[in-house]
Amino acid sequence: MSVQPSAPEAGKRPAMTMHSLMKMLADGEKITMLTAYDATFAAVADLAGVEIILVGDSLGMVCQGHNSTLPVTLEAMRYHTECVARGVQKQNGRPIILGDMPFGSYATPEQAFQSAATLMQAGAHMVKLEGGAWLAPTVEFLVTRGIPVCGHLGLTPQSVNTLGGYRVQGRTETGAQKLMQDSLLLQNAGAQALVLEMVPAALSSSLTQALPRCHTIGIGAGNGTAGQVLVMHDMLGINLGKNPKFVRNFMAEADSVLAAMAAYVAAVKNGSFPDNALHAW
Ligand code: KIV
Repeated sequence: MSVQPSAPEAGKRPAMTMHSLMKMLADGEKITMLTAYDATFAAVADLAGVEIILVGDSLGMVCQGHNSTLPVTLEAMRYHTECVARGVQKQNGRPIILGDMPFGSYATPEQAFQSAATLMQAGAHMVKLEGGAWLAPTVEFLVTRGIPVCGHLGLTPQSVNTLGGYRVQGRTETGAQKLMQDSLLLQNAGAQALVLEMVPAALSSSLTQALPRCHTIGIGAGNGTAGQVLVMHDMLGINLGKNPKFVRNFMAEADSVLAAMAAYVAAVKNGSFPDNALHAW
């Protein structure tokens, strides 16, 4: 399986590495992340120029039909990571593959290492964990053992039961201060990327300024972050539920999935997505 390039240069870009990712941060180039869960969509995302493919535990909702991400197992994440890695390898092999650590797979540093090793052996280049201060020792444990880490703060869907729903985080002074402290702890522990989900735009911009060694990747966090991520089904307009305010349907003006993904990449790069007036708090 190989998806045909849309542009002459499509097959020529070098593979992304953690080094090139850090250079993009230093150069101020926006980073594009998109979820994918299978070989074909991952290959299309690669061709469209996406820099990081997130094999998200959102697959529990969009692929498996659950109401939350909590039922997703490590074995399911391993399987989908392998599928994505095969798709990318058969295409340009360019994006970094980010494997999401599922609920219950990183309660201790040792358990986190075993779970992360499973995803890395399945083809991930980096893993993502949800949580703040309590995770900093785990992040350091993984990074010192050769596993690049992406944090996830703000709305952390695996904690939906303690958060009381899918709602904007960091709106109070105390909440904002906690997010700042947690972000700094994760960066100082060695996290090189940090997803900020449903965080007010002004706060996300401040967090981004405060984190010179860690890419902030926003979803519902405004346009002041170092990069953006969306769930693929949302940006293709095939999520039949009510879409959150931060989603833009890129398929609405595209004639193919490849064109929609390429439009997403272009819009993030040129700063037209997200639009704070429409997609942020
Ligand atoms: O699992 C996922 O897709 C995610 C994104 C919402 C960032 O964590």
